[in-house]
Amino acid sequence: MTTPCFVANWKMNKTVAESMAYLDILEATHLPSQDAEIILAPPYTALSSVAEKVKRGLSSIGISGQNMYYEERGAYTGEIAPAMLREFCQYVIIGHSERRHIFGETGSQVQKKVQAAWTAGMVPILCVGETKAERDEGLTWAVVQRQLAEALQGLRALRGPGDLTGREADTSSSIPTFLVAYEPVWAIGTGVTPSEAEVEEMHAKMAEELATRDPNGPPPRLLYGGSVNEKNIASLMRERHVDGVLVGGTSLSAEGFLRMIQIGIVAHKEKSCTR
Ligand code: PGA
Repeated sequence: MTTPCFVANWKMNKTVAESMAYLDILEATHLPSQDAEIILAPPYTALSSVAEKVKRGLSSIGISGQNMYYEERGAYTGEIAPAMLREFCQYVIIGHSERRHIFGETGSQVQKKVQAAWTAGMVPILCVGETKAERDEGLTWAVVQRQLAEALQGLRALRGPGDLTGREADTSSSIPTFLVAYEPVWAIGTGVTPSEAEVEEMHAKMAEELATRDPNGPPPRLLYGGSVNEKNIASLMRERHVDGVLVGGTSLSAEGFLRMIQIGIVAHKEKSCTR
């Protein structure tokens, strides 16, 4: 059974002091780190302090950036380079819908960022998802499939010749890994979600697509994101292809995030059919 993964995306929230108060609450709790992978994505300004505190008392927690630029360095005012994030983070969220839709990030930029994350030794958490208009036009899968194809272009080449010649692929740890979060744009921050069946259908299609696209890679864990809360997390996590969640608004309370993790772990174990 896959280890369930719980990502807290704090977005543009929390000062350093507020971040430390959050970690104090996690530290005072017995974290179920054997049963779950817990990842925090704080704002850039809190990364250093969060990383320091995590190193001292919460070492099972992973740290993620919320975005980054793909160039190594240079005259890119306001941007952050992969190596700068790598000092603090093992993961980086790439292609979040707020980046795509508010800041105009393109599929080609997402692809460069995914590659740059791998080059820097980070695990990208790749976000994909359709808008309401695309969904209404019946384009949900077409959009998700296109976003996966754009972002993962070049992955086969990185895997080495194994999949092209029939030889075993190199499975060393340098081989890029990633997580995918299906986040319908219309579900983010709205309190509205697709049904569990719709999430499962999309995740199953993504699993199939990724297995075709990357036959020699480890199957990436598939997260759902968009208005996840204490009430809906169990039914989502019981779905066969849902390996975890990417949580925004309701992860801002440490107590709330912890409760969701606990509920999610139980639900994940209850899956009648696991991958
Ligand atoms: P939300 O955000 O949980 O507030 O809907 C999820 C996300 O944007 O990752």
